[in-house]
Amino acid sequence: MTTAHPGLPQFGRPAEELPDQLRAMTAHDLPTRGGRTTAYTYDAGRPDVREAAERAYLAMLDVNGLDPTAFPSIVALERQVVGAVATRLGGDDGTPGIFTSGGTESILLAVKAARDCRPEIAEPEIVVPATAHAAFFKAGRYLKVKVVAVPVDPGTFRAVPTAMAAACTSNTVLVVASAPSYAHGVVDPVTEIAADAAGRGLPCHVDACVGGWLLPWLAEAGAAVPGFDLSVPGVTSLSCDLHKFGYAPKGASVLLFRDRPMRLAAYFACAQWPGYPVVNSTVQSSKGAGPLAAAWATLQVLGADGYRELGRAALTATRRLIAGVDTIDGLRVLGSPDATLVALGTDDAALDLWELADETRARGFFLQPQLSVAGLPAGLHLTLTGVSELGVDGLLDALREAVAAVRARGPVAPPTELLALLDQFDLTDLDDATLAALLPAAGFGPARMAGVNRLLDALPPELRDQLATRFLSVLYSPYLEQQN
Ligand SMILES: Cc1ncc(COP(=O)(O)O)c(C=O)c1O
Repeated sequence: MTTAHPGLPQFGRPAEELPDQLRAMTAHDLPTRGGRTTAYTYDAGRPDVREAAERAYLAMLDVNGLDPTAFPSIVALERQVVGAVATRLGGDDGTPGIFTSGGTESILLAVKAARDCRPEIAEPEIVVPATAHAAFFKAGRYLKVKVVAVPVDPGTFRAVPTAMAAACTSNTVLVVASAPSYAHGVVDPVTEIAADAAGRGLPCHVDACVGGWLLPWLAEAGAAVPGFDLSVPGVTSLSCDLHKFGYAPKGASVLLFRDRPMRLAAYFACAQWPGYPVVNSTVQSSKGAGPLAAAWATLQVLGADGYRELGRAALTATRRLIAGVDTIDGLRVLGSPDATLVALGTDDAALDLWELADETRARGFFLQPQLSVAGLPAGLHLTLTGVSELGVDGLLDALREAVAAVRARGPVAPPTELLALLDQFDLTDLDDATLAALLPAAGFGPARMAGVNRLLDALPPELRDQLATRFLSVLYSPYLEQQN
């Protein structure tokens, strides 16, 4: 008798069947090309670049990045990619770096390196602006490092150097600044923060995950970009994602260190088990070489002139968007972005941002909801890329229509009843089936997230995290499907 395994056919299927099936599965995904999804995806709008990346990825599909002595090609590729990023960002050919799978991994490794450089500190802490990316909180939890989040200037959303300095203690192992912050697109005062950190003998990491491969080209296009890279005294490490404004496929980031000893502290080695001696530069051990090869190919095919043009186009799109938003009653740009990342907010209680996100999505543009936190207002996020210039008028039209639609529907009641209902449950105990049954009451449905966002926004941060993890669990359970 044969046993049926869901997801595994008893007998192999013809390969030709699969692309159609995959296409059907992705039919409800947000579009990854064309700039209508203003988060998650970065489109260079260049089919030749995409094709080069795809070919390079496939050429290295079977290579295992686990062992650079077995596959010296990955050392050659990584040295070129890290060297390109280092020389553009204030370092040189000899600047030590690591190619990682993404911003979060770069940040995890930067925090690990800082922690492990100070083994004498039993309860290590990192000082970050309250606007720092969630990856620092993840690093804190994974690595048992306390994250001290320092309030930012409520008007500019920039870190306040004196407040950052005041938060440093004898347990501090790292000070962080963003260039720019994801949420508001503003560059922290890196020069002051790094100088103060250096004065205290502390390392300073610049999170340039989103901005590292954007800001230099914006500066060339005439934008005022404050100093943020390794050329700034006191900056000891920097993360720069190539799968964002490097326009490389996902799985590509570079972590740079000013000094070799700090990079050593990011590494991991273990020869205390009976198998092969393990020595890794990254969290992953066995890993595909595809993302590295694709990032390398993307850099080669775009070249400095390609990035310069994409930077110019993204900047033009951002300026047009900001000017256009100014003419939409009730909407405003939060702060004054230094990059091509923009957060839209409102002071108008009648304009529910979560409904606005759903309405804009219904008109073909995805804007990413950002919850209010630590006294900072809620917003809708847009990252403008090289292709956004072509669609910015359509985006502004969609926003205008969406605002009118939200206003026409009238004010939205706060989720008082749902909050009371949730109050009766211990969120950690709530099982998937029960939560799946509650979600429709929160207004959750295909492409309708307003209710869930409203509920999350109304909850205190710890409960948000609990509910969000419960929600993820439900999403991967069979219960939502059964309801639909
Ligand atoms: C400033 C910043 N840091 C870190 C990250 C995390 O990057 P990833 O999603 O590649 O892990 C992001 C992602 O948007 C970011 O914008």
